[in-house]
Amino acid sequence: MERFAIDHHPAVVDLLRRSLLPEDAVEADAIAEILRPNEDGSRRTAGFVEWDGAAVTGVVFVAVDNADPQVGHLDLVVVDPECRGRGLGSRLIAAGEQALREFGCTRVRIAGNPPQYAFPGIDVRYTPAVCAVTKLGYAHEQTAWNMSVDLTPGSLALTDTADAEAALAEQGVHIKAADADDIARLRPIVAQEWGGHWADEITTAEQVHIALRDGSPIAFAAWGCTRPSWFGPMGTKAEGKGLGLGTVLLRRCLRDQAKAGFTKGQIGWVGPVPFYARAAGAFIERVFFLYTKVL
Ligand SMILES: CC(C)(COP(=O)(O)OP(=O)(O)OC[C@H]1O[C@@H](n2cnc3c(N)ncnc32)[C@H](O)[C@@H]1OP(=O)(O)O)[C@@H](O)C(=O)NCCC(=O)NCCS
Repeated sequence: MERFAIDHHPAVVDLLRRSLLPEDAVEADAIAEILRPNEDGSRRTAGFVEWDGAAVTGVVFVAVDNADPQVGHLDLVVVDPECRGRGLGSRLIAAGEQALREFGCTRVRIAGNPPQYAFPGIDVRYTPAVCAVTKLGYAHEQTAWNMSVDLTPGSLALTDTADAEAALAEQGVHIKAADADDIARLRPIVAQEWGGHWADEITTAEQVHIALRDGSPIAFAAWGCTRPSWFGPMGTKAEGKGLGLGTVLLRRCLRDQAKAGFTKGQIGWVGPVPFYARAAGAFIERVFFLYTKVL
């Protein structure tokens, strides 16, 4: 086992492609990019790979929590399907835990560390991972879920928003795709209303859509912040509630995703299930267990 170095990145992407569920394998590059140890040292991160001379057969990425320095995150652990059941996963997790101890962490979580997260926890379909972390002393603390959205032509999610936007304009609300200046104006509002993570997340979005009243943002929705196929975050200030802004902004984002070639979208880490079900026909599909362990 050796420390992750940037030269390992392509081989780690290959490992993820052959080891993860199809919907994760297809975004292997984005997942490795967002979770891998950062080179500039701005965040405390560590990674280890098992390298057999030709390929990476196992990887673990860990990071200190972006808010609480005593908490660490097990962000990713993957072993090649051909190499499982021989203790490699356990050794990688132990190496990750030791790196977190050396960073001063007293607890480790498998729970997503926004804005650098690819999963809110372990997708329950990764059942060997559920078994492995249970064996290694992790306790199931919460459950989270995504909602999936059909983005094929004719789906509810792709309902045209032109009429709704015209009605909003008559009420003094202007809907638009946010540019860099809009994002700069939006950031402090998002930080104040919904907390710091979202303010950082929207800076990494593929696209943010906003609602402006008197030139000031009163609602926003973003997609592609963590992973290209994922939607969120979104929020409407109290003064904008009840106008239908959320539905319009959500559908604008989903339309972008369909145009980008996605036939299925993921609303990450939900959230108001009835809203997404009604506005986009979204349904709960991916379920994640969140874990914690004292180090
Ligand atoms: C989770 C994973 C990393 C485990 O790797 P591994 O090298 O097989 O792990 P180990 O051999 O160290 O197994 C550790 C323990 O996990 C449990 N376990 C592992 N695979 C299991 C399986 N298929 N069924 C039941 N228990 C299993 C066992 O308790 C095992 O200990 P034991 O053999 O002493 O009983 C591997 O299955 C994997 O890469 N899965 C896909 C990626 C993934 O799900 N990652 C987590 C989400 S990001």
